[in-house]
Amino acid sequence: MNLRVMTTEDLPQVEAIQARLTRQPVPQPWKDMLAEHVDQEHRLGIVATQDDEVFAFILGEIKIGGFGTELSGWLELVGVDPEHMGSGIGAALAQALFDTLAQRGVAEVFTSVRWDMGDMLAFFKKIGFDQSPFINLAHSTGKQE
Ligand SMILES: CC(C)(COP(=O)(O)OP(=O)(O)OC[C@H]1O[C@@H](n2cnc3c(N)ncnc32)[C@H](O)[C@@H]1OP(=O)(O)O)[C@@H](O)C(=O)NCCC(=O)NCCS
Repeated sequence: MNLRVMTTEDLPQVEAIQARLTRQPVPQPWKDMLAEHVDQEHRLGIVATQDDEVFAFILGEIKIGGFGTELSGWLELVGVDPEHMGSGIGAALAQALFDTLAQRGVAEVFTSVRWDMGDMLAFFKKIGFDQSPFINLAHSTGKQE
C-alpha cells in the first residue's frame, strides 16, 4: 500500500469509491468539492493506492482564525473501498493527514460525525479522537429541502 497526495487523475477512482459507499451516483457538487482538494494550500486529499489502483481516500482542511484558534485542522471525509475495509487503511490515512497538517502548522484536528453513525464514531475513537470542547449547532436558512 502506498499513501500519496491526491491528484486530478485520481478523482474518477475516488468518486467511484464514494458511489460504492453511498450506493448512489455521486452528484456534481460532490465532484466539484472533491476537485477543490487538489493542489490547494488549505485543503488536501490523500489516497491509498496499490498498483495504480486507488482504494481509499481522506480529505482535510485547514481553517484560519476559527474557533478561537489560529489554525485548526479538519478531517472532512474518509472512505475506504468496502473490499479493503478493516485492514488498517483508514487509520493509516488519518495518520498521514495528521502528519501533513502538522507540517502545515496545525496543532489540533477536529472532525464531526453524525450522532447515529456508531461505526464512524467507533473508528474515530479507536484512532484517538475524543470529545472536543465545542458543540455543533444547526439552524435552517428557511430554504425548502
Ligand atoms: C470507517 C472507515 C473509514 C474505517 O477504515 P478502515 O480501514 O476500515 O479501518 P481500520 O482498519 O483502519 O480500523 C482502525 C480501527 O478502527 C476500528 N474500526 C474500523 N471500522 C470500524 C467500525 N465500522 N466499527 C467499529 N470499529 C471500527 C478498527 O477495529 C480498528 O481498531 P483496532 O486498531 O483496535 O484494530 C471505513 O470502514 C469506511 O470507509 N467506512 C465507510 C464510511 C462511509 O460510509 N463514508 C461515507 C460517508 S462519510
